[in-house]
Amino acid sequence: MPFLQGFFSPNFYLKSPHFLLYQYEILDVIQIFVFFAFFHEFNYHGNRKKMTQSTSIKKLIPHLLTAKRIVVLTGAGISAESGIPTFRGQEGLWKQYRAEELATPYGFISNPRLVWEWYDWRRQLIASKKPNPAHKTLAEWENFFPSFHVITQNIDGLHHMAGSHRILELHGNIWKMRCLDEGIVIENRETPLPELPPHCPHCHGLLRPHVVWFGESLDGTVLSEAFQLCQECEVIISVGTSGVVQPAASLPVAATQNGALLVEINFEPTPLTSLAQFSFLGKAGEILPQIHQALLEAHRKRTLPSKKSSAKKSSPQKK
Ligand code: OAD
Repeated sequence: MPFLQGFFSPNFYLKSPHFLLYQYEILDVIQIFVFFAFFHEFNYHGNRKKMTQSTSIKKLIPHLLTAKRIVVLTGAGISAESGIPTFRGQEGLWKQYRAEELATPYGFISNPRLVWEWYDWRRQLIASKKPNPAHKTLAEWENFFPSFHVITQNIDGLHHMAGSHRILELHGNIWKMRCLDEGIVIENRETPLPELPPHCPHCHGLLRPHVVWFGESLDGTVLSEAFQLCQECEVIISVGTSGVVQPAASLPVAATQNGALLVEINFEPTPLTSLAQFSFLGKAGEILPQIHQALLEAHRKRTLPSKKSSAKKSSPQKK
């Protein structure tokens, strides 16, 4: 489907004047279209091999052990087991709250106090949560693999808290605020906030959450770096994202177009599933640690001398 390729090319976002985070009203149509196009083109319900999870993990391990560069794209699903609600689905935040009131620049200008009340509530919720085994596994992998990066759509900071350092936050960070007058970004972890809406400690201008809202551009440097990492990696693992929000959803596509292997971990199939060579349906907090155990086992076997060769070495040499 060549006419679709433009959407999945980084140039579509980087060369256009604004690489906007798509707005529900306008671009859902495109997202739904892309969703069905994918399912049709790659015949998702067709001949996908049904492997058991442990067989799949065994088959995945050699790919991970030989990869020089690995990238993980995470979404709200990775923090769900920490107790942070996701956005879509039955219990999702966007089922209960109106994104256009709470997560758009227009919503903020119309009612900054309402937006800040919502963010203050989320900050208090997130402050009480801890990284789960999925975050912790990814933090360990930073030391395990030669080149390993996390690209996240999450603003909760749990990857940092788990110990990851090489992280690109596509949608900003809930613990940062930006002054509307001066543009400076400050870190603030106070919960609850004493003043709503908060004001800049330097110029007393209005502060906004340093996050990306619908209809806004992503940080160009962060986005370019994310696309570059995806174009260079051999393996990309998509964890707990619905894969419907652009431009993040195009990152795994860009990676596969450059020959990377796509692994997906999610409760349910997504528009990305049909592109994935490995699809694990289940909880990230269970599957990632299982993959980690299998990796350690395979690594141990690799580094231990085999019985045959050690027997040879220890047997006396014939003269
Ligand atoms: P969504 O809420 O859209 O999707 C969460 C995904 O995680 C779904 O596909 C779930 O099936 C999956 N999931 C839930 N629990 C899981 C678990 N324990 N293990 C594995 N998978 C699980 O969240 P995102 O795709 O991250 O943007 O949403 C992208 C962006 O849309 C967010 O960053 C946010 C939102 O609007 C902004 O607010 C700017």
